[in-house]
Amino acid sequence: MNQKLIAPSLLAADFANLQYDIEMVNKSEADWFHLDIMDGVFVPNISFGMPVVKAIAKHAKKTLDVHLMIIDPDRYITTFADLGANILTVHYEACTHLHRTIQAIKATGMKAGVALNPHTSVKLLEDSIKEIDLVCLMSVNPGFGGQSFIENTYQKTSDLKKLIERKDSNALIEIDGGVNATNAKKLIGTGADVLVAGSFVFKSDNPSETIKNLKKVIA
Ligand code: DX5
Ligand code: ZN
Repeated sequence: MNQKLIAPSLLAADFANLQYDIEMVNKSEADWFHLDIMDGVFVPNISFGMPVVKAIAKHAKKTLDVHLMIIDPDRYITTFADLGANILTVHYEACTHLHRTIQAIKATGMKAGVALNPHTSVKLLEDSIKEIDLVCLMSVNPGFGGQSFIENTYQKTSDLKKLIERKDSNALIEIDGGVNATNAKKLIGTGADVLVAGSFVFKSDNPSETIKNLKKVIA
């Protein structure tokens, strides 16, 4: 039984005091940092870009899980590798030649992730799942933190788990959006490996306690 992971999303952190929140995650029981990059084209919001990732990487002591919500992500694969990303996730909907993009990510030494919007079927990964290190199932429409969890994600998670097993893939399943202590256990039960949590962690009174409790819930 592999260990289940928590990846706090810095999108919900205090951008005026990022170092404080990064140190909190460093010292907490969290496993990864989840960094949301939005271009205002693929999603209707702009978050932060390379200079901020560079500043985060300088202080972060855990895996950097970078989620690109941008069109034509191939343009920036080597840039994010150089910035210190460990996992680079691109959107299925943003890649015309997904297989080539996955190979390009892996060629840099990073792990390759593919994210699916809520409307995108896991069946579409049938022919690429063997190549993928992580599938990020969006449980909200990407673009904003603090949205409500879409219930259909449970079904998608178990369908994806079956596909991964049937194809003998090593891909991890990550769930992103609206994760909290109420849905976390059921998500793990249906096959999830990594839970991203933004608002639930950073908007709580005691973020590091919240992470600790989430870890307990999914243990
Ligand atoms: C949404 C982002 C998420 C977001 C999650 O577009 O990909 O990673 O930060 O935030 P919460 O946990 O607040 O839904
Ligand atoms: Zn994300």
